[in-house]
Amino acid sequence: MRFRLFEEYAHSYDLHTPAHHYRHDHAFVLDRLTSAGNGARRILDVGCGTGVFLAKAQAAGFDAYGIEPAGGMVAQAAAKVGAARVRQAAMEEINEVERFDGICALSWVINYAADPDSVLDILARMHKALEPGGRLILQCAHAPNMVGKVLEDREPGPDGKPDDVVFLFQFAATGPDRALARYVFASKSMAELVWEEHPLSVADARLVASLARQAGFEGVKVFDSWRGDPLGSGISAWVVAERGIR
Ligand SMILES: C[S@@+](CC[C@H](N)C(=O)[O-])C[C@H]1O[C@@H](n2cnc3c(N)ncnc32)[C@H](O)[C@@H]1O
Repeated sequence: MRFRLFEEYAHSYDLHTPAHHYRHDHAFVLDRLTSAGNGARRILDVGCGTGVFLAKAQAAGFDAYGIEPAGGMVAQAAAKVGAARVRQAAMEEINEVERFDGICALSWVINYAADPDSVLDILARMHKALEPGGRLILQCAHAPNMVGKVLEDREPGPDGKPDDVVFLFQFAATGPDRALARYVFASKSMAELVWEEHPLSVADARLVASLARQAGFEGVKVFDSWRGDPLGSGISAWVVAERGIR
């Protein structure tokens, strides 16, 4: 599926979704990669978007690469970390063998897969692409806890003018493991206004964890948030798993 927020409006993504909103999530991932049994250095960020996490990982000393299917996002990420570090590809196309010490997919990338069978295939590809002892870190939408609240952010525009950017969003469960993310983005100074619905599948962190076990991952854990608590009322959970040493 093609989304305008990731294509023709990718240049505005970091305005409505600024990096500082995700600082705790990013710190959680960097910490879990650093503490991986294999001391992860070469990592793959799947669905790397505008490359914010890639740039942070690079700055933290990781040999970081990204894949991303949306051309608009690839261009933004390449501008941050260099074109050689970002490849235009979908998670369904991962085909490396024992190349990475760590693989992550942040902000619900995994939920853009079509269905559980597709997620199982993607997880098997991720398992194969990890070195033995490598770590997988997925941030997953969790529909059972979604209550459909309408949320609003106001952010500065490109010239720093306060409240130029308005971002409305709503996450609503449409089934036990499906959800709809609705977004409205507007920038007054850029005269841009976009609204879009993104269907999310396999939106149950426990289901993703069980698929990870089926795909061969070991030590699979589910956390409610970057705080590392057990799954509770969160809508954005983490699944952390290892490829065994054997
Ligand atoms: C909500 S954005 C998150 C971007 C980035 N991970 C972040 O944390 O800022 C979701 C991203 O998933 C990407 N995506 C959608 N379908 C995908 C697929 N089949 N394979 C890999 N990435 C995909 C989108 O293009 C978009 O960049």
